[in-house]
Amino acid sequence: METATSTTALVTGASSGIGKAIALRLAADGFKILVHCNKGLERAEAVRQEILAAGGKAEVVQFDVADKEAIEAALNAYFDAHKDEHLDVLINNAGIHSDTLLGVMTDEAFDSVMKTNAYGAFYLMRWTVRRMLRRRRGSIVNMASLAGQTGNPGQFNYAASKAALIAMTKTLAMEIGSRGIRVNAVAPGFIETEMIQTIPGLEEFKKRIPLGRFGTAQEVAGVVSFLCSKDAAYMTGTTLSVNGGLYPA
Ligand code: NAI
Repeated sequence: METATSTTALVTGASSGIGKAIALRLAADGFKILVHCNKGLERAEAVRQEILAAGGKAEVVQFDVADKEAIEAALNAYFDAHKDEHLDVLINNAGIHSDTLLGVMTDEAFDSVMKTNAYGAFYLMRWTVRRMLRRRRGSIVNMASLAGQTGNPGQFNYAASKAALIAMTKTLAMEIGSRGIRVNAVAPGFIETEMIQTIPGLEEFKKRIPLGRFGTAQEVAGVVSFLCSKDAAYMTGTTLSVNGGLYPA
């Protein structure tokens, strides 16, 4: 179902890191990709060009995932102008972190992380599911995190937002499974992207990873590709860990 070439996949935060790798991978799988960005318009355009050069299809869409009105305006405009396209895959990948201990955490640090990571996914799932329900098909993948499974000191806000994503994934899967729509999550551990460069003591974490190295964005993208494929047709509500063996679930 989801591998048909006429279907479109929206990948949020696709101008960099894991989102970029997912966009390239799903394009190779045959999806037309909506390469989403907020501030990184030039980088998103470069991702689009890379997909086109490889023979795939892609367009760029730009909005702040924390802004409900902006999401609705951008997606309504896109799909009004592309009535033959169907959004059959949503990858909620955009995310931020703002790390500090709870005692000194500002309201702004908590709000901004929840707004982007949890509310952003909520707004996008609600918009998308309304459309998917009409066609009784679709696949959603939410980018959670190991921190959302285990907790992580210094990431009170981030861990809460990612745990919320896991709970949203399970609940929505139950709500719409009977309508042919699957909802899953991926929980990466330490993946080599710009996001982890600012984490203090990064090399110490590496020593604790059973596979002895950080993961790559491509290794996460491969799991997302699987979840969007027919091979995962009987999987919904699950969270797949991609963490090199750190804290096995
Ligand atoms: P990244 O910083 O390269 O990617 C995050 C993307 O989200 C960026 O493209 C950014 O522009 C976009 N974004 C942030 N706020 C946005 C907003 N308000 N509106 C629209 N777009 C926004 O980092 P990375 O590592 O590729 O992260 C991707 C996802 O994977 C995130 O959700 C992150 O929490 C998750 N993750 C990453 C891990 C890692 O080790 N790199 C581990 C576990 C989860």
